[in-house]
Amino acid sequence: MREKPNYGLDAPATIKKWGAIGIVSLMIALAASIYLPSNWWAYIVTTFIYCVAFFFLVPTATLTMGSLWFKFRDRDWLFEQLALTGNEVVLDVGCGHGLLLIGAAKRLTAGKAHGIDLWVQEDQASNSRDATLENAKIEGVEGKIEIHSGDMRKMPFASGSFDTITSSWAIHNIHNKAEREKALQEIIRVLKSGGRLAILDIGHAPSYAEFFKTNGITDVQLLGPHYTFGNKTYLTLGKKQSA
Ligand SMILES: C[S@@+](CC[C@H](N)C(=O)[O-])C[C@H]1O[C@@H](n2cnc3c(N)ncnc32)[C@H](O)[C@@H]1O
Repeated sequence: MREKPNYGLDAPATIKKWGAIGIVSLMIALAASIYLPSNWWAYIVTTFIYCVAFFFLVPTATLTMGSLWFKFRDRDWLFEQLALTGNEVVLDVGCGHGLLLIGAAKRLTAGKAHGIDLWVQEDQASNSRDATLENAKIEGVEGKIEIHSGDMRKMPFASGSFDTITSSWAIHNIHNKAEREKALQEIIRVLKSGGRLAILDIGHAPSYAEFFKTNGITDVQLLGPHYTFGNKTYLTLGKKQSA
């Protein structure tokens, strides 16, 4: 068994593709600076290729640093806002390697943390139920978690099953608006009346707050942005209206 948990590299295919384009462009730019004759045309061409390299290498670096360092700061930010009592039954939607699932379990005493995921490899490298379970064992919380394989758009849970629902950088992976709204509607359905939700995401995240406001969620707050992966990450908070 590993000694340290591994919370996964997000968007690995994008990192590989952009990193490769950036490195090749940088090498061509360096070769052009050395071998092209010194005139204005060579200067313009070389500068353009350096710009291409910069354009691809900077987001490659910010994406990688987000996964390796900055997302842990946002995990702590989310749990500060939630201030769990320790007795909750929590669901983490799109749990991946367990960043929030295990983060919640560590804050629970009598409660339990559930995670659900489809284990999409494009969204997180080496994504699997076993990898998440191994992280939970390393963190000493395997008795406080339960992992489910399933789609967030049709969750295998009864309505009103959870006191708290979390999610981090998962819902934006559904590219179609109507399908994302199915996931948001499912989150509302499986949340107990009076239960709270906390969702970290990029992309269309501000629209989640609007959706929640018009679908039975009160006290909706949109916090941020944080530039965790280079682009804007928002934290959406809310509470399901009591029955
Ligand atoms: C970028 S990863 C983030 C994982 C984790 N929440 C974290 O912050 O490290 C997105 C996760 O969403 C999962 N996912 C994508 N579409 C899903 C769906 N329709 N239902 C359940 N999980 C999904 C992926 O398998 C992946 O684990």
